[in-house]
Amino acid sequence: MLRSLDDLEGISKIDAGNMLGAINRFPDFLVDAAHFSPLDVRSSLFVHNIVLMGMGGSASAADVLLDWLQDRIRVPVSVVRDSELPRFVGPKTLFMAVSYSGETAETLAAFNEARKRRCITAAVASGGRLQTICSRRNIPFLQVASGLVPRAALSQMVGAGAVMMQSFGVVEDVRVGLLEAGHELIRIRGQLRAEVPLSRNRAKQNALRLRGKLPVIYCLQHMSSVARRAKNQFAENSKVVAKYDLLPEAGHNEVEAWQGRNPHILPVLVHDSKESREESTVFRAFKAVLRKLGEVRTLEVRTGASSALGRLLGPVLFLDYVSVYLAFLRGVDPTPTTGIREYRRLYATARR
Ligand code: PA5
Repeated sequence: MLRSLDDLEGISKIDAGNMLGAINRFPDFLVDAAHFSPLDVRSSLFVHNIVLMGMGGSASAADVLLDWLQDRIRVPVSVVRDSELPRFVGPKTLFMAVSYSGETAETLAAFNEARKRRCITAAVASGGRLQTICSRRNIPFLQVASGLVPRAALSQMVGAGAVMMQSFGVVEDVRVGLLEAGHELIRIRGQLRAEVPLSRNRAKQNALRLRGKLPVIYCLQHMSSVARRAKNQFAENSKVVAKYDLLPEAGHNEVEAWQGRNPHILPVLVHDSKESREESTVFRAFKAVLRKLGEVRTLEVRTGASSALGRLLGPVLFLDYVSVYLAFLRGVDPTPTTGIREYRRLYATARR
């Protein structure tokens, strides 16, 4: 039983799979990814739209790429989390499969379909069948380091995915952005790692506030990658159900659900460190209504990261720490995901 979140020995007993170690390395992986060399495959002239396809933790990397680079790309970009592809996907689509294991059934099926439709294909993975197909067919491929669980490889996957997009000329040099964000994350890690005591560690304090509660995460629309990732990390690391919604949209519907005070749920407001005046007004109005309806407690996340990618990955790292501290408070090893493993097995068997 853990005495407190400052009980490092107790934590290491619960954290048998060393998820804390993986989260500590998250910023370093991003810095390393800045050293990927772009491949020589420029063909941006032919790209009319981009599809980033993946599932689970790998799809979270695709979401971050979308939120980060969307404004810098001239063509429409979408994230697909399904083996079925939308009708528009065709020969002028840059289709990038993102799969940490390279073995995910839905991703392999979608990748094969994209090849049938003569898309411009590329992939990022640590190996697996995806890598085999790419090397046999000479398809551009970037390999990330293996040996992690997919969700712990997010920063590597974002880095490799961005460099792949740069290789196709659909976005200008991404490596400065990766490096800047990496250094910001190193600073944030210094404030949140387990050695920093509860009295000064906001991730530990927030985990305590979330104990026994359902986290309801709110982000601005342009940070939807952060909200979804946080929900998934609470599920996979802390083994608790969480939900998320986006602003300003939630002010037009979900806000009605906060009538009275429910002690079992807690709103988590994740701010952008460079919120526009308009965006701050959205948060203020939303919070004011929550208060009026009776919900006076909010947990607010601000990291101060200022680069375009740091503004996304700063809160991601912050909430990753919260999710593992919450797991430790619950006495749960964050690493094993037996439900996911079983789902993947049953799905793959049924498809044969
Ligand atoms: O976090 C996980 O383990 C899952 O969400 C996986 O990412 C998901 O099953 C897809 O696997 P992969 O990322 O290897 O394609």
